[in-house]
Amino acid sequence: MHLTDRINRIQISPTAAVIAEADKLKSRGVDVADFGPGEPDFPTPEHIKKAAIKAIEENKSKYTPTGGIMPLREAICAWHKRELGSSCEAKECAVSVGGKHSIFNVMSVLVQQGDEVIIPAPYWVSFPDIVKYAHGTPVFVETRPEDGFSVKAAAIEKAITPKTKLLILNSPSNPTGGVVPPDEFERILAVCKKHNVWLMGDECYSHFTYEPHKPYSIASAAGSKENVIIIGSVSKTFAMTGWRIGYTLGPEALIQALIKLQSQSTSNATSIAQYAALEAMRGSMETVPLMLAEYAKRRKRIVEGLRAIPGITCEWPGGAFYAFPDISAHLSSGAGRPALAKSCTEISRLLLEKAHVAVVPGEAFGAPGYLRLSYATSLERIDEGLRRLERFFSRAEAAA
Ligand SMILES: Cc1ncc(COP(=O)(O)O)c(C=O)c1O
Repeated sequence: MHLTDRINRIQISPTAAVIAEADKLKSRGVDVADFGPGEPDFPTPEHIKKAAIKAIEENKSKYTPTGGIMPLREAICAWHKRELGSSCEAKECAVSVGGKHSIFNVMSVLVQQGDEVIIPAPYWVSFPDIVKYAHGTPVFVETRPEDGFSVKAAAIEKAITPKTKLLILNSPSNPTGGVVPPDEFERILAVCKKHNVWLMGDECYSHFTYEPHKPYSIASAAGSKENVIIIGSVSKTFAMTGWRIGYTLGPEALIQALIKLQSQSTSNATSIAQYAALEAMRGSMETVPLMLAEYAKRRKRIVEGLRAIPGITCEWPGGAFYAFPDISAHLSSGAGRPALAKSCTEISRLLLEKAHVAVVPGEAFGAPGYLRLSYATSLERIDEGLRRLERFFSRAEAAA
């Protein structure tokens, strides 16, 4: 089949591929310790589900305005102001079919052939491919484990060229959990302003930060209006991944362009899901700290467990719900051990086949030598997974 160059430039999301492989094993009855999926294992809070049921019963099942129902656009702005200190009006907000769709839209209207987009690495798998689909060129800036994988303004400035259009800054980060502190974020904003570069903040994990970090948005900084774009989502904060509601905050002209694109593609996000999101934005937030407290316990368990395995190092993630261990010592022989494999992709395959543990290889995030383990799973499953990892990395599987 002759497909377009555009579609051939991108690949299927590697995380989706891992999930599919793990699901295949599970369907054969295999007990998989699954650290693959990047989604909360908690149910959507009751009051949000009820709002959706009410919307169905009230027949709120028609097309809505393309950019989202006005009460939701207003509620998102009010929520963002209250929680994260921004000052947007509804005309500076568009609702779309998830945060990923919002990013896709922003790239589609701002990036074209010849434009460079700076992406700190390790990065979320979709960023480079969305940029490539928009005919842009991703430019990676490495972050270091000793800095908690937090990018520095100086490194961003070094990567800027006359072709740089936009910087994507995802804090807290998937996959590293890295958090950019407010003072550094403001320095990065100053660099972007100086060079006339858009700063797109992906805040999908904003409310999952661990001490000493706090939820923060660069949209709260003075002078951020002209060149800051915020991507947000109800997926993680409210355990609503399947509802597919995300949003963009930005200058009105940009929002108008996003809405024009949606008017010729998805039209509005699902009406029922919009009413559910409206309740998420207006209703009680009490489930959020409960989820965070649970993630904090799991984070401690998984990071300590990984660190106890010889040849593995692991930073404390500042936010989100991923551990990102460095297992590169197992890719070469040493310390009396043979190499386990040549790459983390191979290790992930072996882990799934032999130990029935699902992880995502670092290569997917531009970080060979690392694995990503989502700890959005119960403490019991984390313990079981750690036991299997311990056996696998001690070569017990190979000896058996
Ligand atoms: C960094 C990051 N941004 C955006 C998203 C998009 O989430 P959604 O499209 O479900 O809102 C995800 C989801 O995994 C993510 O990890």
